[in-house]
Amino acid sequence: MTDGPVTLITGGGSGIGAATARRLLGEGHRVAVTGRGGQRLDRFAAELGRPAELLTLVGDAADWDAVSSAVETTVRQFGRLDAAVANAGFATFDDIAGGDPAGWRDMVLTNVLGPALLIRAALPALRQSRGRIVLVGSVAGVVYSPGNIYGATKWAVTGLAENTRRLVTADGVGVTLVNPGATETGFFDADGGPPDRAMLDADHIAGAIAWAIGQPSGVDVNTLTVRPVPSPL
Ligand SMILES: NC(=O)c1ccc[n+]([C@@H]2O[C@H](COP(=O)([O-])OP(=O)(O)OC[C@H]3O[C@@H](n4cnc5c(N)ncnc54)[C@H](OP(=O)(O)O)[C@@H]3O)[C@@H](O)[C@H]2O)c1
Repeated sequence: MTDGPVTLITGGGSGIGAATARRLLGEGHRVAVTGRGGQRLDRFAAELGRPAELLTLVGDAADWDAVSSAVETTVRQFGRLDAAVANAGFATFDDIAGGDPAGWRDMVLTNVLGPALLIRAALPALRQSRGRIVLVGSVAGVVYSPGNIYGATKWAVTGLAENTRRLVTADGVGVTLVNPGATETGFFDADGGPPDRAMLDADHIAGAIAWAIGQPSGVDVNTLTVRPVPSPL
């Protein structure tokens, strides 16, 4: 096994998280990915040939025990933690007027509580490595859209990123908020498939995340908003 930098990614078995894991592994990182679905994680590991540098951990990003145990297992297995990427998230694709409130709780817990739990769990190890936190927000967290509850969860992520940065920068820890525009992933499955307009692919966002993580010591990239062209938002 290589002794490259170590990154933990929540929701890393598909989409943007998986593309980021794949890219970082290619750059010599050791990577732990989490997700609720064991089969999804196992398929991803099999696709990559089950490298020793990849750890898959079943767990809910909104559950404190699962998140803290994912951090502990990663540090125990790989000896350190250099970056934590809060990527797990989803949208209910409804709105505050006509939506189904039954779906909102899990979305809020995954998208807002999830990144907070990861920061809480990973911070001691990141302080030791003077590492980096990456939060995957959204263009929906920097523009207003009518009645959008998902957008409100991502506005919370925007605030969490800056509030965290102001807390941890004194310890040499960096914080980057990466805001994807429409990106072709399983994200849109719950909406019947991707919209009929220009889309990024997951590797475009993975490139932005890996670039932020790869900045030299002393440099902290704070916000990257990456949209397709053209983009209606
Ligand atoms: N695609 C876009 O257009 C777009 C645009 C802006 C922002 N984003 C953001 O990008 C991030 C990644 O989304 P994606 O596009 O890559 O979607 P995706 O392909 O659906 O991937 C999301 C991943 O997160 C995992 N996940 C969801 N809820 C989880 C939870 N509670 N705990 C652990 N893992 C969980 C899913 O696996 P399991 O279901 O097996 O847990 C899945 O592997 C999300 O935060 C999303 O809001 C996406």
